[in-house]
Amino acid sequence: MKKQLLLGIETSCDETGSAVLAKVDNRIGIVSNIVASSSSVQAKYGGIIPEQAAREQIKSIIPVIEEALKEARIEAKDLDAIAVTQGPGLIGSLLVGTEAAKTLSWVLNKPLIPVNHLLGHFYANWIATNTPPQFPCLGLLVSGGHSDLVLFKSHFEYQYLGGTRDDAAGECFDKCARLLGLPYPGGPEISKLAKKGNSKTFKLPRPMLESKDLDFSFSGLKTAVSLIVKDPSFSEDKKADLAASLEATIVDLLVRKTVLAIKEHKVEQLMVAGGVAANQVLIAELKAQSEKLNVALHVPPVNLCTDNGAMIAARGFFEKPLKDSLSLEANPSLSLASTD
Ligand code: KG4
Ligand code: ZN
Repeated sequence: MKKQLLLGIETSCDETGSAVLAKVDNRIGIVSNIVASSSSVQAKYGGIIPEQAAREQIKSIIPVIEEALKEARIEAKDLDAIAVTQGPGLIGSLLVGTEAAKTLSWVLNKPLIPVNHLLGHFYANWIATNTPPQFPCLGLLVSGGHSDLVLFKSHFEYQYLGGTRDDAAGECFDKCARLLGLPYPGGPEISKLAKKGNSKTFKLPRPMLESKDLDFSFSGLKTAVSLIVKDPSFSEDKKADLAASLEATIVDLLVRKTVLAIKEHKVEQLMVAGGVAANQVLIAELKAQSEKLNVALHVPPVNLCTDNGAMIAARGFFEKPLKDSLSLEANPSLSLASTD
């Protein structure tokens, strides 16, 4: 039995995450997982102010790492390696994590593993499960900054199939929530309000739905919602109907292109990842379609959908450490470009 202990550090945006994960043979489990979010601070401004997010990261990073080690009942010297988000994300926020990780790696003389945040999201699907995704597997990443379809052929080979041409799905939720006077982050707020509304009330545009490619476009939705809200006939009592119609439209766009990708690439496995994967209407619809198509669906638990250190450590188990830890540089524009 081979046991590996990894510390994961995530600071790409407004969450400071640190977790200790153990890999015993092929099973990955959480020993501790601490997340401090500055989203309540960001909420006051209706969205993220990068400078402020970075300042909050600085305040939280050491206490969050200490708490993760304490809860795991281990000392830093017991770790086998440190995995950290290299990018993409906000440069100020990323630097806090990468510099902290470099310092720990150097002081403790432990290997340092850089992790692509986007891959990290997908690896939430490998945590605490006896049935992790099998390759080939289609991945749908839906977060505040990304809406991507990726075909994974192995842990190391993946092909970018398509993604958003403008706003990400989470960004669309957040921007429309703001138009509706709801606090940031908007996804969960829209979702809550939508439960009280009728999704058939407003006919919102479904851009690129009929296009044969696997790309999405969400920015037109924001414009449509803005026009409805500004119309003098729009009243407070229609907000829930608009939230429900918006949620149903975003879900429809995501699910239809995912189904197209499943058919086109003949996959039997689908995994979802990112903050918007916490949306239960999206998951219910993906479940229904997967059953129809005989596809195994993997969805992370809700607390592992949004940013956290555990997903970074989970991907870290499959990545190589740097030869020189101090050479690590944060990369705000790291992408999921195909490996072949
Ligand atoms: O993955 P994540 O934590 O951060 C990024 O890497 O971007 O995703 C955050 C996004 C936000 O846009 C938030 O509104 C959205 O995930 N989100 C949701 C839900 N929970 C979080 N969107 C829809 N429904 C939800 N329940
Ligand atoms: Zn994320």
